[in-house]
Order: sequence, then C-alpha cells, then structure tokens
Amino acid sequence: MKSAVIAGAGSYLPPKLVTNADLTARLDTSDEWIRTRTGMSVRHVIEPGDATSDLAVEAGRRALDSAGGGGGADVVILATTTPDHQVPPTAPDITARLGLRTTPAFDVSAACAGFLYGLATASGLIATGAAERILLIGADAFTTMVDPDDRGTVVLFGDAAGAVLLRAGEADEPGAVGMPVLGSDGSLAGLIQVPAGGSRSRSSGPPSKEPDPGAVYFTMNGRETFRHAVGRMSESSREAVARAGWEPTDVDWLCAHQANLRILTAVADELGFEPERRLSNIAEVGNTAAASLPTLLAMSASDGTLKAGHRVLLTAFGGGLSWGAATLTWPDIVVG
Ligand code: UT7
Repeated sequence: MKSAVIAGAGSYLPPKLVTNADLTARLDTSDEWIRTRTGMSVRHVIEPGDATSDLAVEAGRRALDSAGGGGGADVVILATTTPDHQVPPTAPDITARLGLRTTPAFDVSAACAGFLYGLATASGLIATGAAERILLIGADAFTTMVDPDDRGTVVLFGDAAGAVLLRAGEADEPGAVGMPVLGSDGSLAGLIQVPAGGSRSRSSGPPSKEPDPGAVYFTMNGRETFRHAVGRMSESSREAVARAGWEPTDVDWLCAHQANLRILTAVADELGFEPERRLSNIAEVGNTAAASLPTLLAMSASDGTLKAGHRVLLTAFGGGLSWGAATLTWPDIVVG
C-alpha cells in the first residue's frame, strides 16, 4: 500500500499587520493581557475585498514550486472554514487559477483540525491508488468572520495559507506521513460556532424574519474549549505516536495548532516535550485555523529549524468539536 509523502511545501501570509498596539488603541484590552493569555503579538490580515482563495493560490503555487513545478497535481484539496462563498466550493477556483485546469478539487471543513482531516483524505486517496499527487492546502481568513468589536475573539485570529504537495511513496522514506488519528464530538458543537449563514438559520422562521446581525460572527466559549483542547490533542498525539511505532522521545518536533500559547504549553508538558522541541510561530501569526499546521511546517523548514529526517508530531483541535494528530518525517526539500 502506498503512503502519502511530502514532496513540496509553502506558505503565504498577507502583508498587512495588526499589532497588539493596534488593538489596544481601539478596544478595552492590553498588550499584557493578550501576551500572557494567548502568546500573540502580531497577526497578518487580508485587505477588504480579498478572500481565502487569494491566500490559498499563493501557498499552493509555492508548494508546487517547492516540489519542482512540472508535476502538477491530480487532486486539489482545500481545508477551510472560511470559503469564499457558500456555493461554489473554493478549491475548484484555486485549481483553475493555479493552471491545473480540470483537476478534481474539493473543500474539507473541519475547522482548525481541517488540515489533518485533509491529510487523512489525501492519504486514503493515495493508499487506494485513486491519486498519485495531491495538493493539500489549509487556508483561512477568520478575520472576515470575527466581530471587530469583540475583544474576546478579535485578538486571537490572523489570516494565512499553507500547503503541501503529497506524492505516492513508501512508508519508510523521508517525507512519509502516518495515517492521522482523528476524532469529533458534535455534542459540544455550541462551544465554537457562527450561528447564522447555514441552513439552520435560513430555514428557521418565516422568510420575512429579520436576521440577527450579530449571529454572523464567530463565537467561542474559550475556557471550555481550552479544557477539551488540551485533553484531546494530548490523547490523539499519544495514539499517533504509538501508531508510528515511536516513543514520544523519538519525536524531534511537536507541531501543534497555534491556538493559544498556554494550550501549547499544557499539551507539550502533558506529552513531555521540552521547550526546545516545540515549533511555534504564534507570536507572529496568531491563530490561523486550518492554515496553522501547514504554515508552521513551511515557515520552520524555510528558516532551517525543521531539517530533513526530523520526526514531527502534528496535532490540532477546533470547532465541531474536531481534533486529530499525525506523524511525519520531514523530507529533503527546498521551501522558499
Ligand atoms: O482554534 C480553535 C480552538 N480554540 C482554542 O483552543 C482557544 C481556547 N481558549 C483560549 O484560547 C482562551 O480561553 C482565551 C484566550 C480565548 C481566553 O482566555 P481565558 O483566560 O480563558 O479568559 P476568559 O475567557 O475566561 O476571560 C477572562 C476575563 C473575562 O473578564 P471577567 O469576566 O473575568 O471580568 C473576559 O471578559 O478576561 C476578559 N477578556 C479580556 N480582557 C482583556 C476576554 N478577552 C479579553 C481581552 N482583553 N482581549
């Protein structure tokens, strides 16, 4: 059975920055609160009129270039919770703009765990022989979904895209990805949600009913989410490491969804990862949802932290609730 092997990677952060000082200038918050509660200092945000696909096209192009360009892809998967539109899906548009013509393309929606769900989908397509080269992009523009006046959420999110080109290969070669461990708990769906915009709100009440303007914004019960995040990421990480036949001490880098520095610290402490074995870019990018893991991988490879042969443990958690973990060894590739 073939395994998914990383052949290229790339990321894209929009140039516009929002610093803690920008937020404290207009909201009842402080640099000290944001840094100590979240570990964040700066976020990259899209300009009005831009969208998730604009980030994804750039990251996708960089991953294709990193893989040596010419080979293209025979499937494109976009993990996102902020598609450009409700209809159509965003992946076909990205695919066309990348010049991949009529390549099959679809969106995967699993909030901040979306990249891992996409990785599992891609691994399955490769294992069955249905595909040989898959471009998997994690992209989100959560700043389009948070209430700009809600200090509880606006400080947390940035926009980004990260991508990997996966090819069919062998389980024991550099770049090979272990089949992800995944989980969900829909009984806690209300902890993280955007109440309006889906069929539930559209079908409730008579057509003339005025929509609640606030219901279009992202809401999160941060404290409860925090509690579940630590437990689920730790559990699934242990399982993924065991599935790979590794011990936690064999892993060079913990690459966890950059939701909150305190969550990252709690998960790392629980699993026994010292600070020197934790990848992090939360201070510079904030929480970028489905883009978080591939962006962190690509940035860490690009700055030389992540090197060929390093063993990596990925884990993420988010709305759904959805979570997961996976292992990989980093390949010998150039990431610009
Ligand atoms: O990516 C998907 C998964 N997401 C996560 O895993 C996020 C998980 N949760 C978190 O990251 C944290 O819970 C938050 C960063 C969202 C919040 O931190 P917290 O320590 O759990 O704070 P809290 O929500 O319990 O709020 C504590 C206080 C409240 O004030 P009172 O009620 O104690 O007077 C909030 O109103 O902090 C207040 N607060 C703020 N104060 C200053 C909330 N946001 C802010 C703010 N500045 N930006």
